[in-house]
Amino acid sequence: MREEDIDQILIVEHESFTLPWSREAFYNELNHNQYAVYIVLEDDGKIIGYGGVWIVLDEAHITNIAILPQYRGRKLGEALLKKVLEVAMEKGAETATLEVRVSNTPARSLYRKMGFQEGGIRKKYYTDNQEDGIVMWVKL
Ligand SMILES: CC(C)(COP(=O)(O)OP(=O)(O)OC[C@H]1O[C@@H](n2cnc3c(N)ncnc32)[C@H](O)[C@@H]1OP(=O)(O)O)[C@@H](O)C(=O)NCCC(=O)NCCS
Repeated sequence: MREEDIDQILIVEHESFTLPWSREAFYNELNHNQYAVYIVLEDDGKIIGYGGVWIVLDEAHITNIAILPQYRGRKLGEALLKKVLEVAMEKGAETATLEVRVSNTPARSLYRKMGFQEGGIRKKYYTDNQEDGIVMWVKL
């Protein structure tokens, strides 16, 4: 992801999350977070998804994975997550973790398919509706 991608990323973001990240958040991730890696998925130059990870020593923390709604269900989320995990491994990560909303069946199913296990609950992790977050992890 580059700075000039942010306009299109914000469209994916707003179509995908009830608590979307701001332009500034992405700007800071790209320019001020040495641990962050963000990957975009393009269809003929149009950004249709993105994924992000923070890699700190041997642990990767997936921040976000999102696909534009009209492109979902075509194994693109799976491909994107695989790529993000691949990059994390190249940079030395040995495990990956993330949080996911209890109600997010598609994402939980995707993560399970990729070998993630459910490791714990963060109570009321999501501030918009006080929903719990499930912590998932996988050995890479
Ligand atoms: C989660 C998300 C990235 C999945 O992307 P996608 O391209 O539609 O998913 P894929 O087509 O690659 O599906 C891969 C696997 O995910 C799971 N999955 C995807 N959509 C699903 C659905 N509607 N219901 C249940 N499982 C689903 C399945 O395990 C699927 O494997 P299968 O097709 O062999 O059953 C997409 O739904 C999305 O952008 N959601 C909004 C943002 C979000 O919630 N991100 C995760 C934050 S933690």
